[in-house]
Amino acid sequence: QKEMEQTPARPGGPWRGILLAVPAQTPTPTPVTITPASPALGGNVSLAPQNVAQNFTSCNWHRSTTADETSRILTYFPPPNPVQHNGPAHTGRETAGPGCALHIAGLTLSDTGNYTVQVQSRTSPGLGTVVLRVYGKCHPRSCADPVRVPPPQRWGSGRLPRE
Ligand SMILES: *[C@@H]1O[C@H](CO)[C@@H](O)[C@H](O)[C@H]1NC(C)=O
Repeated sequence: QKEMEQTPARPGGPWRGILLAVPAQTPTPTPVTITPASPALGGNVSLAPQNVAQNFTSCNWHRSTTADETSRILTYFPPPNPVQHNGPAHTGRETAGPGCALHIAGLTLSDTGNYTVQVQSRTSPGLGTVVLRVYGKCHPRSCADPVRVPPPQRWGSGRLPRE
């Protein structure tokens, strides 16, 4: 029982006891806040995971619903020696910062999609997926609708071939 008493303060909140009891820890579901809520074409956005363990050792951002290597945008190591290692899915516009937030600059419509963050921590790892939607320069609600192609106009006498 000595081991448990030596665990650093606040390793995982109320889950501590459960997490210490299981050998492989299931990541805590991690909500992600998108700022601004309706990011615009050409603008910037921040994806900030919530309740990130203070002792996290690194985190991975993926352009996917999963944390597979091919979709990895970057890996971020926090201070005192913050480092960003870009992955195969990095476009040159993504940076990571404090609290494992992902910042994307110069948004394109193809940035719309699922993003997954994986927080590595010995005591309380986290995993979360969020859908980012980039809006064109129009009202968000109409941009969210699929493009409607108007039916072809038929000009003239109205004598149309019938089938
Ligand atoms: C996000 O992933 C879900 C599940 O795979 C998929 O149905 C959905 O279309 C994706 N959303 C976007 C915006 O790509």
